[in-house]
Amino acid sequence: METKREKFGSRFAVIMAMAGSAIGLGNIWRFPYMVGEHGGGAFVLVYILATILISLPIFVAEVVIGRRSGRSAAGAMSTLAGGRIWKFAGFLPVFIPLFILSYYSVVGGWSLEFLIKSCRMAFSGVDPESVTGMFGDFIVRPWAPVVSHLVFLAVCGAVIALGVRSGIEKFSKYSIPVLFVLIVVILCYSLSLPGAGEGVRYLMKFDVSALNPQTFAYAMGQSFYSLSLGMGTIITYGSYVSRKENILMSGVGTGVSDLMFAILACFAIMPAVFAAGIAPGAGPGLIFQSLPFVFAKMGAEIPAISAIVSIIFFLTIVVAAMTSSMSLYEVGVAYLVENTRIKRGAATALIFVGCGVLGVFSAMSFGPLSGVQLAGKGIFDLFDWLSSNILLIFASLLTVIFVGWVMKKNDVKAEFTNNGSLSLSGRLFGIVYFLIKYLAPVALAIIFVANFIL
Ligand code: PHE
Repeated sequence: METKREKFGSRFAVIMAMAGSAIGLGNIWRFPYMVGEHGGGAFVLVYILATILISLPIFVAEVVIGRRSGRSAAGAMSTLAGGRIWKFAGFLPVFIPLFILSYYSVVGGWSLEFLIKSCRMAFSGVDPESVTGMFGDFIVRPWAPVVSHLVFLAVCGAVIALGVRSGIEKFSKYSIPVLFVLIVVILCYSLSLPGAGEGVRYLMKFDVSALNPQTFAYAMGQSFYSLSLGMGTIITYGSYVSRKENILMSGVGTGVSDLMFAILACFAIMPAVFAAGIAPGAGPGLIFQSLPFVFAKMGAEIPAISAIVSIIFFLTIVVAAMTSSMSLYEVGVAYLVENTRIKRGAATALIFVGCGVLGVFSAMSFGPLSGVQLAGKGIFDLFDWLSSNILLIFASLLTVIFVGWVMKKNDVKAEFTNNGSLSLSGRLFGIVYFLIKYLAPVALAIIFVANFIL
């Protein structure tokens, strides 16, 4: 099993692939809006603490499970410990990622549509006010969002079909560093806009009075989502990490890249949102309304620059969403390849069909299916809420219980320290193990319950 399995080629490749999974729509639209709504800098501080004390230990736990078992998320736990409950726990990570991928790729499709609009210079020469309406007009159309969702999913599938080294690793190694450059370009553009200062002030306020139990729950939830925890993606990528690799350093590298990108995205987006005079809490549509408005306004004066920046902006979103979607795909593909006779290409095609069909409901949820409501939520919102607030937290809880309470402490230590050869990991093991065993389960249980009462 061990010899046949593909492995990432270097530590850089591991971090770029994992950062590729982590950096996504969560960083670009969810984080900036949450920071604004929940006390600015104070929220960022809670977010950083939650990442260090809870998310990173969970991340480590997932890589430990993946690398030790050498299996993808499904089957990883039952390989390490028998028992029906862990077999069941192993199935969750096959279905949850497909569930999230089905609606995530709908947003990927919106981004693709806006990238095409940018290339056609659709935002210049148009009245800025009408540009804000473009998003609303697009998502209510019956078939266009479905088509863009399927195209996006197919493009991600094409990279996945190439394999772990030639697909995921190659794509992430080149695209993630480029994403950092692109987001800095947008940031410079955004900060130069008239009225940008207000957006910066909005992000920089340090409103301690905004901190309440809800803020803590949101900060933790956002941190899990952003680091791609609880979806089986890190367990699966963990199984492609070589035995020589340092798990702690891979986690820290991924966490720092993810956080840096989230903060850069805040400063790239909020000033533009304020310059466009749009409410920062506008939700999923925020980036699709505010930025095109700015591009249209600028486009009237300097069309070329505005067109180039808009292409850069939507390209950044498409690529960031692609690398995250690829990691969700990989969980299902790896499962099929390991457990059936299906080959990688066919497995990718199967996942494409499954998620493609399931995603049609989310893609149509603002148009033909807008009347369908369950528990007071439209289909798209329901998928988002169920996967990020419920399933993700529940699956993470099982993961930490598994590593903290089911696996033997010595096995966890051996994996974390590469059989005792990493001295810093050896010294930090006690703390990390404590966080996995006690703090993370308690925090996850509290957030799980809080979702229903807050
Ligand atoms: N981390 C991704 C983001 O921030 C979302 C994601 C979650 C991707 C879970 C894969 C698994 O957008």
